[in-house]
Amino acid sequence: MIQVEGLTKVYPGRKGKVPVKAVDGISFSVGEGELLGFLGPNGAGKTTTIKMLCGLIRPNSGRIQIGGMDLIQHRIPALGEVSAVLEGNRNMYWRLTAQENLEFFAALRGLNPAHLRADIQHYLEFFNLGDKRDVEARKLSRGMQQKLAIAVALISQSKVILLDEPTLGLDVQASYEIRQLLKEIVKKQGRTVILTTHDMNVVQDTCGRVIIVNEGRIVANDSVHNLLDLFRVKVYTITIQGELTSDQRSALLAMEEAVITEDSPFRTSICVRLEESQVLYDVLRVLESNHSPLESIDQEQNNFERVFLEIVEGGVQGA
Ligand SMILES: Nc1ncnc2c1ncn2[C@@H]1O[C@H](COP(=O)(O)OP(=O)(O)O)[C@@H](O)[C@H]1O
Ligand SMILES: [Mg+2]
Repeated sequence: MIQVEGLTKVYPGRKGKVPVKAVDGISFSVGEGELLGFLGPNGAGKTTTIKMLCGLIRPNSGRIQIGGMDLIQHRIPALGEVSAVLEGNRNMYWRLTAQENLEFFAALRGLNPAHLRADIQHYLEFFNLGDKRDVEARKLSRGMQQKLAIAVALISQSKVILLDEPTLGLDVQASYEIRQLLKEIVKKQGRTVILTTHDMNVVQDTCGRVIIVNEGRIVANDSVHNLLDLFRVKVYTITIQGELTSDQRSALLAMEEAVITEDSPFRTSICVRLEESQVLYDVLRVLESNHSPLESIDQEQNNFERVFLEIVEGGVQGA
């Protein structure tokens, strides 16, 4: 549904500043009915990529195809397949009510509002906006406005939906409703969604696959499942009573995976980062050599937040 090849965007340096290569030759594709998470730290180039995909800014080089149509050569039909909600931008009219906004934007896309009554009803109800249908958009809460903005994008029935930070700054309930709706439109309607987010809970809950960008380049492109597997490191913290002998200390210092995190006469903690469980036994054997009484062994769970940080900060090439 979406094909991107060698996409590059350089913002010209203004007032003596150096130009910024915001997006640096990225290539990827997204299949029909896929929900792709587009992640990366601040300034990684996520918003710039989304803006190029919806035709708001022109790339310096590279190619974008939407549904097989080149975004430059066949701009109008290609963009006809795309709806976007950009970060902080509410694609609606403040003085129209929630329902009028939905009707207006449907009509703008050439859809007959009369035929869309059921859809409008569905989105309003899904987002718990049913009793707000006659309230002007400007009078809605921030979370409601964001939900309405997403509903406006969905009402167009375009096959590709681009969402830049759709749940940023929203309360738990609004974020949950948006996630549920995204899952529904992908599963039931086969639409293709790209969303950027900082929220790893959103990723773990909704995305099948993620692309992680850093400094304008793709550093990982894989399923959430595989990435979690790839980084299936376990972190154990072993705490003993008393202090280590010098033999124990030097044995532990020689182990790359073990770090002494607390070191006092009364209590010692060793953090072990495991790629294979053998190391845990090695550490325990060292501790046993002095009959050090074990106080606790705690395990930290692997989650997507950790995977993300490993890839971005560790510079791991998962792509
Ligand atoms: N209009 C612009 N003019 C100049 N530089 C920009 C502009 N928009 C973004 N940038 C720069 O491009 C880089 C990528 O920005 P952006 O795409 O907004 O990243 P993200 O959405 O991942 O935080 C950043 O270094 C940012 O400062
Ligand atoms: Mg951004």
